[in-house]
Amino acid sequence: MTRPRHFLDLAENEPAVLRRLIDTALALKADPASLDDPAPLAGRTLAMIFEKPSTRTRVSFEVGMRSLGGDVIVLSPNDMQIGRGETIEDTARVLSRYVDAIMIRTFEADTLAALAEHATVPVINGLTGRSHPCQLMADVMTFEEHRGPIEDRVIAWSGDGNNVACSWIEAAAAFNFELRLACPPVLAPPAAIIERAERIGGRIALTEDPCEAVRGADCVVTDTWVSMGDDAEDHRHNVLAPYQVDERLMSRAKPDAIFMHCLPAHRGEEVTAGVIDGPQSVVWDEAENRLHAQKAILLWCLE
Ligand code: CP
Ligand code: NVA
Repeated sequence: MTRPRHFLDLAENEPAVLRRLIDTALALKADPASLDDPAPLAGRTLAMIFEKPSTRTRVSFEVGMRSLGGDVIVLSPNDMQIGRGETIEDTARVLSRYVDAIMIRTFEADTLAALAEHATVPVINGLTGRSHPCQLMADVMTFEEHRGPIEDRVIAWSGDGNNVACSWIEAAAAFNFELRLACPPVLAPPAAIIERAERIGGRIALTEDPCEAVRGADCVVTDTWVSMGDDAEDHRHNVLAPYQVDERLMSRAKPDAIFMHCLPAHRGEEVTAGVIDGPQSVVWDEAENRLHAQKAILLWCLE
């Protein structure tokens, strides 16, 4: 049996496919009525499993699926037999008999992999502790709508080397931009993810110094200091405090640099209110673009 068109991680897709998805997302945003068929996913159902909370992912997938003519079912493990020990493999087999695609937000990357291995319908990664590829599709789209092609541009990350940082690393290799990450050594992204990106030509620089990462950058990005599933211990805040994106750090980037954050944000922690609510911030466009990027992903998975 041929493998369904899963959207699991950027590194698992051909760069040309990812490029096409961004172009489709930009076209859908410019003219939502540009599709030949106004309801290309009519009769199709997406099941969404959330092991962790969500605002953007949940609402943007639901609205996106409906605007393409399809339907959604939102599932919480507490209401499913997974919560009582049914395996993810059996869940994958059963859901595949009812729905046309499955999106999952889960803790372990292994859970996503097991779901994808045993599902006979496309599986979409709605965030794991290891990655957040749908977010990165929206982020690349957002950069390009504000600043043009991302190829050869410089993106700086300051903060925790978390799941979103890992997907930025994979995006740098796929879209051929330079990524500079400033992270405390104890919270650096896994070396294996950086090495894999570098092996396929990714230009990744890892430093402890946020000023060095941000100097002359076209875009500055950060994310929460405490991701879902992390212990909110004091030491995370202490080691991450020097990585806060404030006005002083932003001033070291290019004068027209943009600021991005996947949200939810914590003003006064990873970013100051002056930056996230200031003129360089594009976070609301970034949140909106989840919708357009995921419509492109849904169309590709279910084509
Ligand atoms: N950025 C993002 O994935 O937000 P949610 O957790 O609200 O889905
Ligand atoms: N790194 C954050 C992203 C939330 C969208 C988390 O995993 O909680």
